[in-house]
Amino acid sequence: MTVDTQISIGNLRCKNPVWVAAGTFLYGREYGRRLPLEELGAICTKGTSLEPWDGVQGIRIAETPAGMLNAIGLQNWGIDAYLERNVAWLREQNATIVVNIVGKTVDEYAAVAAKLSPRDADAIEVNISCPNVSEGGVFFGTDLRMTEKVVDAVRKATSLPVIVKLAPNTHGLAEFAKAAEAYGADALSVANCIPGMAIDIRRRKAVMGTPAGSGGLSGPAVKPIILKMVWDVTAAVRIPVIGVGGVVSWQDAVEYLMAGASAVQVGSALFRNPNAPWDVAQGLEQFMRDEGVSSIGELIGAARP
Ligand SMILES: Cc1cc2nc3c(=O)[nH]c(=O)nc-3n(C[C@H](O)[C@H](O)[C@H](O)COP(=O)(O)O)c2cc1C
Repeated sequence: MTVDTQISIGNLRCKNPVWVAAGTFLYGREYGRRLPLEELGAICTKGTSLEPWDGVQGIRIAETPAGMLNAIGLQNWGIDAYLERNVAWLREQNATIVVNIVGKTVDEYAAVAAKLSPRDADAIEVNISCPNVSEGGVFFGTDLRMTEKVVDAVRKATSLPVIVKLAPNTHGLAEFAKAAEAYGADALSVANCIPGMAIDIRRRKAVMGTPAGSGGLSGPAVKPIILKMVWDVTAAVRIPVIGVGGVVSWQDAVEYLMAGASAVQVGSALFRNPNAPWDVAQGLEQFMRDEGVSSIGELIGAARP
């Protein structure tokens, strides 16, 4: 039985609904040497800013029983380095490219978006939700007015599809989702890491290197929480929602799709299993065959009343 795994996010067409999550895959080179990037729905790049950013000094990754804490601080080489070093290579791999962008000001977000032509990216994911930086990131995603301003500015700066990555640590996530939609987002990623921490009991100090001592929790621990957010957000907006949080197996992907997501992103799972997104894509296709599902659209929202 042939199955149709293609999905559309705005004008963006993807071979399948399994993407890789920003920051867990850098720009794909380390994986792409061994595994075919073109077989994934899309590659979300590392968060990329106008100028290079230094990251957090000190501990950046810590394991927890069901996931991991990270505090990278959005370290990256800046948009010009992306354009010079990575675009041509990603295009050679036939990857579908979603550039994840960050800024310390609204103007910076817009300036990064404006530098990306359709040759350089197939879509832009606007990260207004990083919990590990003192300026930018979640500051924009937890204030409704700032969310509106950033989305508005990015929308006006680009004709590429705009995906807004929401913060899980807000009250009334549906309001943020509706605001992003109203200001021109083509889709939403739900969501970024959930703030968390760990204590080194011998040193009697917080483990992570951020001034606040905290980091972002990701992995299986967050999946039930983010799944519910996807369920709620898809009911609040008409634009597609992408589920991001704790996708480790194809079963996780099916749950997100059935909750209403149009695609999923695989992040931390890559740290344990570098094949994870490919395994998820293959498992999903097999599940469709086993269940007699001919197109992915039949799964999207299938569990909704
Ligand atoms: C090491 C690391 C770096 C990350 N960097 C970014 C980033 O640059 N931009 C972004 O929007 N999200 C970033 N994230 C968040 C992930 O894209 C994803 O939203 C989160 O990890 C939840 O998915 P997961 O449970 O599958 O990992 C990062 C996550 C990790 C673990």
